[in-house]
Amino acid sequence: MDKKTDEKKLLNEAKEARKNAYVPFSGFTVGAALLTKSGKIYRGCNIESSVMSPSLCAERVALAKAISEGEKDFVAIAIAGALEGETSKEPCYPCGVCRQTLSEHVKLSAFTVITEENGKEITCTLEDLLPNAFIFEK
Ligand code: THU
Repeated sequence: MDKKTDEKKLLNEAKEARKNAYVPFSGFTVGAALLTKSGKIYRGCNIESSVMSPSLCAERVALAKAISEGEKDFVAIAIAGALEGETSKEPCYPCGVCRQTLSEHVKLSAFTVITEENGKEITCTLEDLLPNAFIFEK
């Protein structure tokens, strides 16, 4: 399969995941699909809470599912977001918290972030989105 087909496939997984978003407060649904080196895909959607701070972004839900299943090698994440019932037209990039969280589990320059604008895929690396990332060293 070629690169464009793979990106489209991962974005479609993110769109499927979006359908499960629990967003009674913002009404903004996000789906994410995280691809592992072995080819497995972990989906996530955003899950909001009435007390706000425990709300979870789609990307971190997908990452937590994968990490908790023992996954360690990640290749890419696709993200689709839009208001409930609408198709995603604007790109949906990961928020700052998700960028930092993802950065601790991937090589920044080798991890691809995929989103789309008006039906066309956009790709960049996590390094593009999080230059000079905070690195914790003991
Ligand atoms: N959200 C995500 O799930 N991922 C992002 O990258 C940006 C924001 C969620 C959080 C909240 O439930 C809703 O979108 C509106 O901010």
